[in-house]
Amino acid sequence: MGLFGRKKTSIGLDIGSGLVKVAVIEHSKGEPELTKVAIAPLLADAIVEGEVMDPGIVAEAARNALSAAGISGRPVITAVGGRDVIIKKIQIDRVKEQQARELIRWEAEQHVPFDMESVELDFQILDPDAEGLEMNVLLVAAKRDLIENKLRLLTDAEVAPSVVDVDAFALHNAFEVNYPEAMSGVVCLVNIGHEVTNINIMEDGVPLLTRDIAVGTRRFREDLQRERGLSAEEADGLLQGYDRSPHLQAVTETRGEEIATGIERAAAFLASSSRVTNKLRAAYTSGGGSRVPGLTDALATRLRIPVEQANPLQRLRVRDGAFDSLVIDDVAPLLMLPIGLALRQVA
Ligand SMILES: Nc1ncnc2c1ncn2[C@@H]1O[C@H](COP(=O)(O)OP(=O)(O)OP(=O)(O)O)[C@@H](O)[C@H]1O
Ligand SMILES: [Mg+2]
Repeated sequence: MGLFGRKKTSIGLDIGSGLVKVAVIEHSKGEPELTKVAIAPLLADAIVEGEVMDPGIVAEAARNALSAAGISGRPVITAVGGRDVIIKKIQIDRVKEQQARELIRWEAEQHVPFDMESVELDFQILDPDAEGLEMNVLLVAAKRDLIENKLRLLTDAEVAPSVVDVDAFALHNAFEVNYPEAMSGVVCLVNIGHEVTNINIMEDGVPLLTRDIAVGTRRFREDLQRERGLSAEEADGLLQGYDRSPHLQAVTETRGEEIATGIERAAAFLASSSRVTNKLRAAYTSGGGSRVPGLTDALATRLRIPVEQANPLQRLRVRDGAFDSLVIDDVAPLLMLPIGLALRQVA
């Protein structure tokens, strides 16, 4: 293998509270190709409400997933999210990138409700080629603690991070490749996980707002157990199956209501706090919770907009054997975030 045969591979590692997911993408052929996927379960309660309760268990699950993917010891791309990450589109005086960097620190103080000493800031000029006195800037602020904790966890798992991204941006990347139509108008990406549902609103492909609500498949399962008298196994069977049932309908209605309300509130907040005037046009669901039969329809009925379950493989090339023994249809919806991470090319 000579220099020209060298592969450009990115590894996305998504440490969820239910499952650790790894996606490997090769960028060498002009078009990204998913070459490997691995999933490792996390013991219950190792991560609760976004907080890592047992770093040892989480590190081990991450190691397991990476070794199942055959990629131990290589740098990975991970992300942070949740309430300690803020994304905001702001307008500042049009200046050069270097000056903007200085200006942003001052501007951020007005927009970020965290102590400036304890945050990492990043930004992107959204209209670098436009003219006019002001420019649009996407401001990102993350609490430094959050990033440091993530890095420590990775160190424990003997993983070398190459990039720490932001969940909302990784989801955006996955949608850009698979659902180019989601890059126009105001749309909501709803990633329904084990403990948390991430709500991300984009306008014309720019992530404007990210918010979490504490609903996920764990709650669905508890409802089915408590209110419908099912065992945990029966509940999981329904939640991860493909058929609707009266049991499911009862929980998709109440939990769907909760998720829909979260989406509406996020959209209303955005309308009141920014220059976004267009209404929410559509929503896309992903994550393990997006598989709950009937939930997408419940959201569509409640929100009165088209709601679609999104598939991160919609337009992505997949190498034969990438999924090993995993059933592609059963796991694809869970991979939106790790695939979005691995779509980033690291220099
Ligand atoms: N094929 C599947 N295998 C395992 N779990 C599945 C499957 N399909 C759906 N699920 C459900 O989805 C959940 C995992 O979804 P996902 O990977 O999106 O959550 P997570 O990222 O671990 O959690 P969070 O983002 O809330 O921290 C599981 O806990 C399970 O309830
Ligand atoms: Mg998740």
